[in-house]
Amino acid sequence: MNTTIYIPRSFLLAAVVFATFFAACESEQPGEEIEYRTDMYYQPSFKPQEDPLARAPGTVPMSGYEPAIKDSLSATRLKNPFAFTRASEDTGKFLFNTYCSVCHGAAAKGDGLVAPKLQVPPDLNGSLYKKTPDGYFYFVIRKGHIIMPSYYEHTTQRERWLIVAHLRRLQQQ
Ligand code: HEC
Repeated sequence: MNTTIYIPRSFLLAAVVFATFFAACESEQPGEEIEYRTDMYYQPSFKPQEDPLARAPGTVPMSGYEPAIKDSLSATRLKNPFAFTRASEDTGKFLFNTYCSVCHGAAAKGDGLVAPKLQVPPDLNGSLYKKTPDGYFYFVIRKGHIIMPSYYEHTTQRERWLIVAHLRRLQQQ
């Protein structure tokens, strides 16, 4: 059987243009590389696996420095140091929906999408959790709990309190 493959002329033209272009990028000298488009590579952002710069001695972050919380008992005495407005409610909801609802569900009933695949979290609207002090919730978000991950690195101090405030509002619904 005689099979002929037809290649469109526009394809051939594109191939020639590409080949010429990339041949031009290649160096004559072995081991010497000509860099192509490095403007995105050399920039002040952190590279993967690179540690952020260490804090200069004697300084604190502009957001203030939050000392470690000793244990869950001392956490129960923590109070929210931030003033919240109506707009903060939306932010709190957004943060809860972003970080917590995957497991806990949008109403914190323990019915998030991931829950059946992992471990079903408790219904945070239960009477025990209604009596739990704010500071304890804050502590759990900061430190994590058994299999629940810590949200210390993903959230600021203010954001953690916003999430606690949202949890409280959910409990009242
Ligand atoms: C990957 C799933 C997952 C995510 C995401 C998650 N949790 Fe949990 N959470 C759990 C599980 C499972 C439990 C119960 C078992 C445990 O403590 O590990 C739990 C327990 C809790 C408890 C009860 C702790 C106690 O002492 O009984 C609180 C409060 C809580 N989570 C709040 C949150 C908040 C707020 C967020 C979002 C910042 C969040 N969780 C994100 C899985 C998750």
